Amino acid sequence: MIGIHDRPGSFSDRWILYCTDKGIPFRRVNCLATDVVLQCKGLDGLLWHWPHDDPQHVIVARQVITALEMQGLSVFPNVNTCWHFDDKIAQKYLLESIGAPLIPTWVFTNKGDALRWIEGAAWPKVFKLRCGAGSANVRLVHSRSQAIALCRQAFSSGFPAVAGYLTDMQTRARTTRNAHEFWQRLARAPRSLLKFMALRRQMHWERGYIYFQEFLPGNAFDTRITIIGDRAFGFMRANRPNDFRASGSGSIIYDPEKIDKRCVEIAFQVADRMGTQSLSFDFLFNQQHVPMIGEISYSYKSLAVHACEGHWDREGTWHAGHVWPEEAILEDLLASCRQRTQKAGSLNISVGSSVG
Ligand SMILES: Nc1ncnc2c1ncn2[C@@H]1O[C@H](COP(=O)(O)OP(=O)(O)O)[C@@H](O)[C@H]1O
Ligand SMILES: [Mg+2]
Repeated sequence: MIGIHDRPGSFSDRWILYCTDKGIPFRRVNCLATDVVLQCKGLDGLLWHWPHDDPQHVIVARQVITALEMQGLSVFPNVNTCWHFDDKIAQKYLLESIGAPLIPTWVFTNKGDALRWIEGAAWPKVFKLRCGAGSANVRLVHSRSQAIALCRQAFSSGFPAVAGYLTDMQTRARTTRNAHEFWQRLARAPRSLLKFMALRRQMHWERGYIYFQEFLPGNAFDTRITIIGDRAFGFMRANRPNDFRASGSGSIIYDPEKIDKRCVEIAFQVADRMGTQSLSFDFLFNQQHVPMIGEISYSYKSLAVHACEGHWDREGTWHAGHVWPEEAILEDLLASCRQRTQKAGSLNISVGSSVG
């Protein structure tokens, strides 16, 4: 029996559909409830697609998942998969520690150190907040004086974790396909504005640190590799017009021939080393045309991955056909539950029932 946290619009929609279709026993678990540990008693596994932009989830997700793993459950996402989610500072130290090709990155938690470094650094560099998606909290810093101004703000008022409501309006306008969609979006605007204002109030401000990354010029797109178990999916995302940023541009290029296979190899190696179940990697190329990792994330748009015409396995063999990430994740979790049960059976201990 597995548990699923039902969050409409997330991976859980397809998990529930799949289990219902295939007769896989599951029950709904509210991972935000105070009795979540009790709710999970007797379960073999748990699936919870928690988002970065909902404070309720962010406050407890990592802690609940760590506790449930202690309880003996196979959880998606497991700790290795999500402890660094939406945390570019965690990702910097993690990727450095395992020798992964991270774009050179600097983090300072002391204003004096930051200012001294800024003095000697060459510009431009990329400034990022540790959190955020769709390029919302990423900008190019052209000069030392700009960097100093950011540094002052970082160590005083800070920055809102949620970017302004009107941020990226051009992209929204560009990705509106027709008049119908335009009117739909306009009709939704008051509600989404209210939602945004509530979120802004709830979400914290980012302050007390500053993050810079080497700017890799000349990348017209980034390469997104998504690893799910033994499968690698790849596509490219074109930058916004006259912008260095691809993430969130909505312009996806599906052409497996154009994907640099070194990115696939690196993604498999890093995912293995980290012990992750599913992870997306954003690659950019440096001046020597070496692929470098900019960001990793366990959460991504499943539709974009499903649109890939196929995937590679570890041997580099291409498997044609569309795959729903949710289904691949679920199948892998069920396999890991079976493995645990077999192992526990041979050791004669019960799985998932050590807490009363
Ligand atoms: N160091 C960099 N040099 C050049 N472009 C970058 C760099 N870092 C990020 N970008 C561009 O900005 C986009 C957003 O950056 P990313 O770190 O992935 O933030 P997000 O979490 O918002 O997706 C990337 O898709 C890439 O196109
Ligand atoms: Mg990104």
